[in-house]
Amino acid sequence: MKCLEDRIRQEGEILSDKVLKVDSFLNHQVDAELALEIGREFGRIFGDQPVTKVLTVEASGIQFAMATAIALGVPFIYAKKKKVATLSEGVYSAPVHSFTRQETYQISISHKYLGPRDKVVIVDDFLATGAALLGLVDIVKEAGAELLGVGCVIEKSFQEGRGLLEEKGVRVHSLARIASMSPGEIHFVEDNLT
Ligand code: G4P
Ligand code: NA
Ligand code: NA
Repeated sequence: MKCLEDRIRQEGEILSDKVLKVDSFLNHQVDAELALEIGREFGRIFGDQPVTKVLTVEASGIQFAMATAIALGVPFIYAKKKKVATLSEGVYSAPVHSFTRQETYQISISHKYLGPRDKVVIVDDFLATGAALLGLVDIVKEAGAELLGVGCVIEKSFQEGRGLLEEKGVRVHSLARIASMSPGEIHFVEDNLT
C-alpha cells in the first residue's frame, strides 16, 4: 500500500535496526482516515470470502479490526489480555510470550462470540515475532472456526512471524513489508503487490 509506505518513510522513527516507532499516525495518535483506508484495503483483500468475524488483540489492533469490520459488514472481536494465567470459565485462551517485554500473558475470547460456524480474518498492527497472532490462531482452532487469513498493517519481514504463520498453513497479507531498516534508512520488500 503505497500511501502507507510513504507515511512510514516520512514519519516513522527507526529506533534501531529492529524497532520502528509510528506513534504520530498509527500507535498513539491515530490518523483515522488512514485507518479507514487500511480497512477498505483489507476489505478488498478478504471481501471475496464469506467472512463472519474479524479478530484482533487489544489494544493497538482495534482500530484496524474495526475499519476492516466496517468494510466487510461484520462484527469484530478483540481478545483481552491478562497478566496472570488464571483459569477462566467460558473462554478460549492461549498464552502469549512477549519477547520485547520478557513476559507471558494470556489472551482470551468468550465462547459466546466465536464458534464452529465462524469464518475468521485476523487483523493486527505489527507482525514481528508473531507471538500474539499465533495465540489468536490457536484460539480460532480451539473454537472450531475456520481461519481465512491474517492481515497485518506493517510486517517486519526480517523477523520470524510470517514464516511461523505460514508453517501453520496461514495466509498472510501485509500492507507494508519492511525488508530491512536502520536509523535513517528503510527498505521495503520489492514485490509488494498489495
Ligand atoms: P509480537 O510479535 O507477538 O507482537 O511480540 P513482540 O514481543 O515482538 O512485540 C511486543 C509488542 O510490540 C506488540 O504489541 C507488537 O505489536 C509491538 N511491536 C513489535 N515490533 C514493533 C515495532 O517495530 N514497532 C512498534 N511500534 N511496535 C512493535 P502488543 O504489546 O502485543 O500490543 P499493544 O498493546 O501495543 O496493542
Ligand atoms: Na498489536
Ligand atoms: Na503494539
